Amino acid sequence: MAFNLHGRSLLSLLDLSAAEIRELLRLAADLKSAKRSGTEVPRLSGRNIALIFEKTSTRTRSAFEVAAHDQGAHVTYIGPHDSQLGHKESVKDTARVLGRLFDAIEYRGFGQTIVEDLARYAGVPVYNGLTAEFHPTQVLGDFMTMREFTHKHLSDVTLCYLGDAHSNTADSLMVGAAKVGMKLKIGAPHSLWPTQSLVEECGRISADTQAQLMLTENPAEAVAGADFIYTDVWLSMGEDESLWKQRIDLLKPYRVTQSLMDRSGNPHVKFMHCLPAFHNRDTAVGADIAERFDIDCMEVTDAVFESEASIVFDQAENRMHSIKALLVATLG
Ligand code: CP
Ligand code: NVA
Repeated sequence: MAFNLHGRSLLSLLDLSAAEIRELLRLAADLKSAKRSGTEVPRLSGRNIALIFEKTSTRTRSAFEVAAHDQGAHVTYIGPHDSQLGHKESVKDTARVLGRLFDAIEYRGFGQTIVEDLARYAGVPVYNGLTAEFHPTQVLGDFMTMREFTHKHLSDVTLCYLGDAHSNTADSLMVGAAKVGMKLKIGAPHSLWPTQSLVEECGRISADTQAQLMLTENPAEAVAGADFIYTDVWLSMGEDESLWKQRIDLLKPYRVTQSLMDRSGNPHVKFMHCLPAFHNRDTAVGADIAERFDIDCMEVTDAVFESEASIVFDQAENRMHSIKALLVATLG
């Protein structure tokens, strides 16, 4: 299949074929080595990209900005309180305005329907920089990182996800795994399993790709045989803070500890996290939760987070290279 993503949006990984995901990862690796060797060629000169952030961000915003600048494009950051969007102007009208001014739009915010409406009416590529439902650019960076830390093809990798699996990150990993034929083992309480309709859709995709999905409430069963163990925060942006106690009670058994890393049975198992992570008390939220619930960390222990097995900062860096590949492929 020809690799032609020109003019395309990325709203979820359901938008990409397995071949397109692989080509994007190849392009990302090429762009990474070109940057390192000082041979990067700007292919986005004169392009303008709007970055809408209705939720906060460190990695995604920085990745889009640096990727665009490296490639010669300009960005305009529109923060949570900076525009008329949603308050005085509808998504449909905003999309038509920004589509006249910009060559592409990134959107981070609340419902998936918002980013879908932007894409429907803007007339330019729209990228989902995280919604409540999906976080597709995260998974592109994650798969790129997996390829750097294993000699296996992605279709031979066993990925374990522990924790809140009813989330944008888990759902996106599940779609990505189904697309590339990966084995994904999710360990989570039943009430926090991924969206059932999406599980069924991934099942249909897997029939073609030989991907395997296991859902279990048993964390030890989930980690067995894993090449990578991945987790995310127990309460996502936009969720009600009053849910903390319930989440902590439910998810404590799924915290990534050294003992669970060892239960993988794989001495080379790696730890992954999209970040930000609550692995100690060194944040306002981490300190508050520690005080209220008498715990030092949440989804991962500080020891695992800081261990040799942790590849979280490679993941963070690869957000930039993979987002750059997406920009070049869709706008270059
Ligand atoms: N992983 C991720 O999306 O990080 P930010 O929230 O900092 O963008
Ligand atoms: N699930 C997290 C991901 C952050 C990158 C959230 O939505 O807050």
